[in-house]
Amino acid sequence: MSTDARAPLSGDEMVALCKRHTLYEWSAQSKVDPIPVARAKGVHFWTPEGKRFIDFNSQLMCVNAGHGDERIIKAIQEQAAMLAYANPFMATEVRARLGQKLAELAPGDIDTFFFTNGGADANENAIRLARLVTGRHKILARYRSYHGATAGALQATGDPRRWSAEPGMPGVVRIPDFHKWGRRDPEPVDVALRDIEDVVRYEGPQTIAAILVESVVGTNGLLIPPDGYMQGLRALCDRLGILLIADEVMAGFGRTGEWFAINHWNVVPDLLVMAKGLTSAYVQLGAVGMRPAIARHFQDRIFYGGLTYNSHPLACAAALATIRVYEEDNLIERARTMGKRMRERMQALEKKHPSVGAVRSIGLFGLFELVRDRQTYEPMAPFNGTSDEMAALGRFFREQGLYTFVRWNTFFANPPLCITEGEMDEAFAIVDRGLEITDRAVNE
Ligand SMILES: Cc1ncc(COP(=O)(O)O)c(C=O)c1O
Repeated sequence: MSTDARAPLSGDEMVALCKRHTLYEWSAQSKVDPIPVARAKGVHFWTPEGKRFIDFNSQLMCVNAGHGDERIIKAIQEQAAMLAYANPFMATEVRARLGQKLAELAPGDIDTFFFTNGGADANENAIRLARLVTGRHKILARYRSYHGATAGALQATGDPRRWSAEPGMPGVVRIPDFHKWGRRDPEPVDVALRDIEDVVRYEGPQTIAAILVESVVGTNGLLIPPDGYMQGLRALCDRLGILLIADEVMAGFGRTGEWFAINHWNVVPDLLVMAKGLTSAYVQLGAVGMRPAIARHFQDRIFYGGLTYNSHPLACAAALATIRVYEEDNLIERARTMGKRMRERMQALEKKHPSVGAVRSIGLFGLFELVRDRQTYEPMAPFNGTSDEMAALGRFFREQGLYTFVRWNTFFANPPLCITEGEMDEAFAIVDRGLEITDRAVNE
């Protein structure tokens, strides 16, 4: 395809060239049908031809502050003009200030941070830190989890995205989930914890470096641990010298109505993994936060780890400005109050539409789980698959200008934290009409 390099591309040209010369993730390329995006503001984005979408997933659950915030843009521009890059052996003002700020915001006594390019490599480094500090090698992780697509993080991932990368990093051992796929409700806390303790016993606690969990499970079904579960994991880890790693790449930075989701249970992990909302994705950045005992371990021992873009000044500037926006606009508090309103709307749709098996939400982190039959809980699409009805629902959302993440028999409600009541009404009106499609597939 030949296009004039000075003229803006049309939506069709963007799609054709992107498909011709770039690879789309987690997809057979012939099946990919990307939405061309030209610009975005607040909770909306537009195609080059001006079709407007409401972004009901904050893109990839990451643009928590909303699109096009002038304060974040200006901070990045000013940093680019002053110092676009410094190598990670240097000290910079934005790195200094971001470390200090995160120490103020992170749970408990977590006060030292290692910066990465995103969530996956933050998990890689959390795993390495845990292994170096404990001298043990096993990492316990759940099936219903996603931790990133680099080798170690993907091996820790329990969902089918791991399958084609195996055999991967040795040492990952699976622990049972507190909420099994295909069930409406979680396991009782004591059962879930006892199942984990069994695995710990069989594996030998002295071989286990860490238990790695998403504080609230994201793409694997928005699973909210029942009260007592996180506290139980913390107690188990403390008793056996195992480190607790909380992956808050998706759940952190206000998504659940707290700075970090684990705060809902007053638990302090040993290692806290973050990315996405850290910069609202204006520039890519991840981080691992650690408690003083872990940081102290590396005072006189070498930390074997590094990245060319560790503490990238543009990313640090974006993070500082994003955090300022969360504070100035009270977005964490807002996620809590708007989250309650969102839940009311979700519950009303659950009552109205027989294809809604369950709704789950915490703050502005929400999910609809669709079924063919509420009694048998037969899912609207199989595990790791889709169905005609789920595909039709996705097409309807797109036609109507609602963007969200549709996966297997679920779809998400994860708007930017700045969403207004009116914008929520706009999105839920489309969801309401869309659910009529799946209602028609409910067993009589
Ligand atoms: C919980 C969790 N951990 C890790 C990752 C990986 O982050 P990244 O894609 O920035 O590598 C993701 C991405 O969606 C995630 O949701």
